Amino acid sequence: MSATAEKRAVAPASHPEWVSRMVEVPPVPATAARQNEGLARELESGNILFLPRLPFPLSDEDRAFLLAQKQTDAGYHKNIAYRPAEERLTGAGKMPARDAARLKSILKAYSEWAARFLTERVAEYAGRWVRDFASYRPIEEKGREARLTARNDLAHVDAFPTRPTHGDRILRVFANVNPAKGRVWVTSETFEGLAERFARQVGIPKAGSGGKVFGIMAKALGIRQWSRSPYDAFMLRFHDFLKENSEFQRNCIKQQWEFPPGSCWICYTDMVSHAVLSGQFALEQTFLISRHAMTLPEKSPIRILERICGHALSN
Ligand SMILES: [Fe+2]
Repeated sequence: MSATAEKRAVAPASHPEWVSRMVEVPPVPATAARQNEGLARELESGNILFLPRLPFPLSDEDRAFLLAQKQTDAGYHKNIAYRPAEERLTGAGKMPARDAARLKSILKAYSEWAARFLTERVAEYAGRWVRDFASYRPIEEKGREARLTARNDLAHVDAFPTRPTHGDRILRVFANVNPAKGRVWVTSETFEGLAERFARQVGIPKAGSGGKVFGIMAKALGIRQWSRSPYDAFMLRFHDFLKENSEFQRNCIKQQWEFPPGSCWICYTDMVSHAVLSGQFALEQTFLISRHAMTLPEKSPIRILERICGHALSN
């Protein structure tokens, strides 16, 4: 692979299949047989799809506008987010209304492009998702300050405190819009290996035990979307466990990747353990893909956990 490099691997994985690979994909399929690309299987196996040149049509003017955004940690939320369902921008803080409107329109276009791309290239998933938030990440990740469990530079798998998935999958489409600098990630073992090693130590909730007050309230109100399943409760604890585990952070296997300027990459971040070491100016769109759309259902984190504990973790 020319544009991105595997820099080093520290310590062998406990199982060779439990390490993420980079899979380069052309911006348009080589043949008309799109369904045969097998991209769903690559994603579900814990691999990262990599497109060296961003297929999202970003104009020079819009790129210049994005690069001019000087977001600071003090003034804004963690990221600027676009919520497609509400057509709303959040986290823009004191940004002038005209700039906020422009940023919203760029994020909306990126969000819609990502949905079209997935529909065309991963036909198995088409329409079987919730299009979650898109985000813009203008802060330099290197040296970025955050509380420990919010740090991006510690290896983890994703879980959302406010959007429980009940076993549905977190798929993210990233784009590096920085014209000069790559975005550097480290990946460790996939969830499959990490769960095998740590799930019992973290503790898998018993059937019927979901979130705390948040979940109970949501249940009482009949809002399944907000109510945490035992699976969601576990994934949140697992996210924090990995970040708080200094021995794991120090000694886990590490593969370092650099996503160059103008590249795009896609992966299941609930499967690919990742840390962002450096990089500034990235776009991202999250999809919550139905667990029932998986081509390799046995590789879903919920099925891996259910195999380990022997009981259902969501209904
Ligand atoms: Fe993450």
